[in-house]
Amino acid sequence: MQVIRLASETDLTGWRAAARSLRSLGVAPEEALWTVDGAGGDLFAATATGGEAPMPPQAQQGGAPFTVPREFVELADLVVLHRSDERFALLYRMLWRLAREPQLLHIHSDPDVQKARHLAADVSRAAHKMKAFVRFRQVAEGDQTERYVAWFEPAHRVTEMVAPFFVARFATMDFSILTPDACLHWDTKALVVLPGADPADAPTNLQGGEDALEDYWRAYYASIFNPARLKTASMQQHMPKRYWRNLPEARLIPDLIARAETRTAAMVRQPSSIPDRVIRQVTRKLRDGTFDDQQPANLEEVAAMIQACRRCDLWRDATQGVAGEGPSRAKLMLVGEQPGDQEDLAGKPFVGPAGQMLDRALAEAGVPRDQTYVTNAVKHFKHEPRGKRRLHKTPNTGEVTACRWWLDHERRLVKPRVVVALGATAVTSVFGKALPIAGARQTAHQLPDQSQGVVTYHPSYLLRVPDAEAKAKAYAMFVEDLRFAWRLVA
Ligand code: URA
Repeated sequence: MQVIRLASETDLTGWRAAARSLRSLGVAPEEALWTVDGAGGDLFAATATGGEAPMPPQAQQGGAPFTVPREFVELADLVVLHRSDERFALLYRMLWRLAREPQLLHIHSDPDVQKARHLAADVSRAAHKMKAFVRFRQVAEGDQTERYVAWFEPAHRVTEMVAPFFVARFATMDFSILTPDACLHWDTKALVVLPGADPADAPTNLQGGEDALEDYWRAYYASIFNPARLKTASMQQHMPKRYWRNLPEARLIPDLIARAETRTAAMVRQPSSIPDRVIRQVTRKLRDGTFDDQQPANLEEVAAMIQACRRCDLWRDATQGVAGEGPSRAKLMLVGEQPGDQEDLAGKPFVGPAGQMLDRALAEAGVPRDQTYVTNAVKHFKHEPRGKRRLHKTPNTGEVTACRWWLDHERRLVKPRVVVALGATAVTSVFGKALPIAGARQTAHQLPDQSQGVVTYHPSYLLRVPDAEAKAKAYAMFVEDLRFAWRLVA
């Protein structure tokens, strides 16, 4: 086994040198273990016992030259910035296969190609987000040179990749962009890239004060993010640049920094679905304590705070968090698993195929959906790529537990008399344990908060039952369960 230790998480040069050498020396992908110095070194040291040796000197020096398609080089440039642990191995596997399959990149159904393209798309999206959402705060003025600092947490390691964009846009401004991966410092002449920062390293007035609230901006900009906006941003990215070229930067820069609602910012921004008033309330709460200490006072605050949630990693690849929807005092609460593809884009629960199935069953059961509060156990869409599609992936226990925080707040605020858990994930979240659906349905289970819990199937399950007769039977039971829950409410 060859263990390759790269110098950093984004060490493309090191990867390239090692990968070329390994391929020339005929080291198969299964024989190569890729790791980063200081990240997982021990793990690999342990697996590298039993005759496995570090990469031999000749591998470090390179082998016979060969060429790879430019498209692969461009793909690798992006993939390497993804946070996936598989990225280096995936790229090496592809490089290895390219020797025998020069057309590999054109086989769109190939799992490696699909995976790499998906990772690259995630990275591009993270770069777009960073360009659109970084907001600077002024941290020094008067006698000192004016200096601006921004804190940002990109979904993937794109900080250095977007550096030229910020330098070009804010060329006459002294600025620092601090991220957990790398910090950019620009003094109008030279760019210095330093290791990543801790949020605590940010100057203190980034963390407090009326207009210096990182959590505020995170919640605010996350709440306005949607794919339509992103398209607008990338489409119009060139427009502001052309437009700005003719403007003295002295006029442009303070304008960008001082006002969130500037003309230029408005070009790349769409209105928030969450009122500014609510964002401000949430901001005040976030300022007064850590995120987890803060109780949302109403459902709008829950929705705003979910946009800033980092309780697990699912936010990274989701478009937005999807909060529940319905009357704030609904007597019946329906809890699904997690938003699907369409819900992730729309920002609303149960609007896709499962939602249509739910609507049909509710109507048959005589339950008005607009009198129910419809939500999910998990608020971000967990998925994996399959070609151009994003396929649902079941959330794990850690993710369900992390997200129960939000469902508990929704339950505390809505105070439903009856909570219906749709499917196994919702059951685990609502009851805190697994229950067999077939055995637990048609019973009112007492919950600790004095509400009653009802268990039934998930509408997506009904969509998947292959046999028509079994499907009809399951659907009838589903309708029966919804009717049962509604009778408990009445
Ligand atoms: N499936 C769910 O569990 N919830 C939704 O919102 C959509 C599909």
